[in-house]
Amino acid sequence: MRANASAGSKRPVSSEPRVTVVVLAAGKGVRMNSRTPKVLHPVAGRPMLLWSMAAARALDPERTLVVTNPTQDGVQAALNGEGQTVSQAKQLGTGHALAQVTAAHRTVGPVVVLYADAPLLRGETLRVLLAAHGKSGAAVTLLTAKLDDPTGYGRIIRARNGAFRDIVEEKDASDEQREIKEINSGVYIFSGRELWPALLKLENKNRAGEYYLTDIVRVIKGKVHTVPVDEGDEILGINDRRQLAQAERVMRQRIVDSLMTGGVTITDPATTFIDADVQVGRDTVVLPFSFISGESSIGEDCVIGPFAQIHDSIIGDSCRIERAHLEKATLATNVHVGPFSRLRPGSVLDDGVRVGTHAEIKNSHIGAGTAIAHFSAVLDTDVGAGANIGAGTITANFDGVDKHRTEIGDRAQVGSDTILVAPVRVGDDAYTAAGSVITADVPAGSLAIERSEQKIVPGWTERRRGRRQREGST
Ligand code: UD1
Ligand code: CA
Repeated sequence: MRANASAGSKRPVSSEPRVTVVVLAAGKGVRMNSRTPKVLHPVAGRPMLLWSMAAARALDPERTLVVTNPTQDGVQAALNGEGQTVSQAKQLGTGHALAQVTAAHRTVGPVVVLYADAPLLRGETLRVLLAAHGKSGAAVTLLTAKLDDPTGYGRIIRARNGAFRDIVEEKDASDEQREIKEINSGVYIFSGRELWPALLKLENKNRAGEYYLTDIVRVIKGKVHTVPVDEGDEILGINDRRQLAQAERVMRQRIVDSLMTGGVTITDPATTFIDADVQVGRDTVVLPFSFISGESSIGEDCVIGPFAQIHDSIIGDSCRIERAHLEKATLATNVHVGPFSRLRPGSVLDDGVRVGTHAEIKNSHIGAGTAIAHFSAVLDTDVGAGANIGAGTITANFDGVDKHRTEIGDRAQVGSDTILVAPVRVGDDAYTAAGSVITADVPAGSLAIERSEQKIVPGWTERRRGRRQREGST
């Protein structure tokens, strides 16, 4: 059994109407002060925009439209074919962004509008909101929150009796209105029938000179219904990098919570960083200061860390990864990787492989039960099963122009400090003597020695001492 850290994906009950979702993602994101579009900044390893897309999926929408800025690179690619993009050439505000939806997509049923800078919103919350919207028959249902620090958000203005009156953006709010703690989350469910005509009535007479979507509550025909969110955290809108870090913290806690529910021991959630798309098997223990990122998957009964860094790697059951660095590596079961070792892309380690300390492996296949127990550089190499790679082995893969492969057979014993100059092959059951520079193939079952013969100079030490004394040195 594997616990997946990603957001839930349960289907809504069938009586709910199919919806159109519009995700607004075209903003300039000025407050991020970044060359990267705001909605592509990752939270727990996933671009913000994709968190909104995941939340939207919980509604099983008929269509999802994403309003994008044609000058922002990478947004389309990040969507990877999900949703249909609608272009907003000029960023004239959230109301203007929604107005870019063309007639063909202006459906009369429920229209859910999300801002792509709110990655903590849960699909479950959207389902609750949609149900409330259906029940109330309102023209628009707003998700609101009460925050200790409402700075930056649009405030919800109410009458004395609590009835909804208006949304006022912070820029346009009076000092008194700024004291209001209830805010607009930027999550709306409209009745399409009322929404589209009302959009035409928006004006840009405000401090920012923008067409605010929030102003629609003044001009839309019908009731405005509000639903408070349970957890204020969920509606965090990310405008700057401080808020990005805040979202990261909340998301990280959610991920480790969900993994712990799935039977993973996380000794110290505060110092464990696991991305959203990582899977970890039951009874695996993740020790402090470990980072598991990208699309990694870890089996059951493993012990990871402390101080492990694992990126885009697949690890089987019962593996032990000490403070090592793994990237795009694939490990079968019972593999042990010791401290300060580095597994670079294309490292494939079969069952029971043992890697010790300060070993570097790249683009290499290591057969079952083979040991690389000490410092070594195994690059572009295929090693058979049950072999032993001695301390200080280097497969010299680069001749300054091209890379070449080394082959080492089953049960081969590569002596300490062997340099294998690729391309070269060491046959099954062959030995290389310590300190050899191997430039020619070693046939199966033979020994290759390449080193000058040792000389013995008898009595040398005694003679040297005498000489030094005579010269008066100490
Ligand atoms: C908005 C709301 C505010 C609410 C807050 C919640 C308005 C006018 N204000 O403010 O009431 O409390 O969100 O987080 O809506 N975008 C476009 N095109 C544009 C402008 C924005 O697509 O021309 C997108 C942005 O990419 C972003 C979203 O709309 O994802 C919200 O825009 P942003 O500028 O962040 O609005 P806030 O000032 O945060
Ligand atoms: Ca925002």
